[in-house]
Amino acid sequence: MKTEHHHYYHKKLSTAIKLARPTAYFILLLLTYALGYLSAPSSTSPSSPSPPPVTSASSSSTHHPPILHLVNSTHLDHFRVTTRCGDPIHPDLVRPTLLRFLFNGTSPFENFPPEHAAKRLRRTRVKGWGSKGAVFENLIRRVKPRTIIEVGTFLGASALHMAELTRSLGLKTQILCVDDFRGWAGFRTDRFKDIQMINGDVLLYYQFMQNVASFNATESIVPVPFSSGSALMKMCELGVYGDLVEIDAGHDFYSAWSDINRGYHVLRPGGILFGHDYFTAADNKGVRRAVDLFAAVHRKKVTIDGQHWVIESS
Ligand SMILES: C[S@@+](CC[C@H](N)C(=O)[O-])C[C@H]1O[C@@H](n2cnc3c(N)ncnc32)[C@H](O)[C@@H]1O
Ligand SMILES: *[C@@H]1O[C@H](CO)[C@@H](O)[C@H](O)[C@H]1NC(C)=O
Ligand SMILES: *[C@@H]1O[C@H](CO)[C@@H](O)[C@H](O)[C@H]1NC(C)=O
Ligand SMILES: *[C@@H]1O[C@H](CO)[C@@H](O)[C@H](O)[C@H]1NC(C)=O
Repeated sequence: MKTEHHHYYHKKLSTAIKLARPTAYFILLLLTYALGYLSAPSSTSPSSPSPPPVTSASSSSTHHPPILHLVNSTHLDHFRVTTRCGDPIHPDLVRPTLLRFLFNGTSPFENFPPEHAAKRLRRTRVKGWGSKGAVFENLIRRVKPRTIIEVGTFLGASALHMAELTRSLGLKTQILCVDDFRGWAGFRTDRFKDIQMINGDVLLYYQFMQNVASFNATESIVPVPFSSGSALMKMCELGVYGDLVEIDAGHDFYSAWSDINRGYHVLRPGGILFGHDYFTAADNKGVRRAVDLFAAVHRKKVTIDGQHWVIESS
């Protein structure tokens, strides 16, 4: 999906950081242009689009691009259907609450694997991208999280890495793995042929579960096998918050934008939001544009750790 470019972009990293500040301002100007253009009245003749509303490219650095006066975090809030998230529940209650709500109180690891899937699974089959980057250890050591929400798990490479880190640090951490476990359209055509399918139903979920079982991590990982939108919305309602929230699901702009915003709602005050693929070109930098727009709208700073972007809540 997005690997070959990592090495290349890793090398470009230091250059990118040096350029970060002027680039950020440039991106803001671009955003101003793009959003202003999109929100321009649609009644004008389609053959003669109105000029972009930005006229001053030379405004001083203390002057916010005009769009930020019109669009703020409230306007872009995808969660307006609920007035606010639930009061945070105690970290000890996160696992039982989710097990009760999602699985009627029974751990999905009980009596796993079911017979029809067992013979089609490998004992372990893990493949990730940047899943063992230093960012995981850096953030886990710093935050000492009780709850980690991972949005985008696939076969569990990054989740299992975090489970191992928290275990070795003696932390009592639950890692909530949000993924619809469908991969992406056609993902089996190439490198993942070996992940079997029954009547078009790919066994990604079962293989992930099998990996967790093989790594003895069934007590620290909770699968949340739903789309990111519905899973994060429900966590918000239930008062389930993460000390760390990792975003690594859809890599197009719209998916990343939505996951970042929803993820921010379930981030505990003082927690850290982070994610993969700020640099890769494989996705035409959709993630990067979403991260930068989010940071601009919320007046947050983006820092870089390896291939990952990091945004602190406070
Ligand atoms: C790049 S993989 C995650 C890799 C994993 N974090 C690792 O490093 O090992 C992206 C995952 O996001 C999931 N995904 C994509 N869009 C999703 C959505 N809207 N809701 C839930 N999961 C989604 C896919 O099923 C896929 O497993
Ligand atoms: C966003 O703008 C609206 C007016 O359009 C204002 O009422 C609201 O307080 C602003 N919110 C923030 C967080 O700045
Ligand atoms: C949920 O679990 C209870 C027992 O704890 C059982 O009586 C009930 O039938 C279960 N409901 C569903 C929908 O499986
Ligand atoms: C899991 O536990 C079993 C039994 O205690 C042990 O043999 C195995 O090495 C463990 N696997 C890992 C990956 O820790």
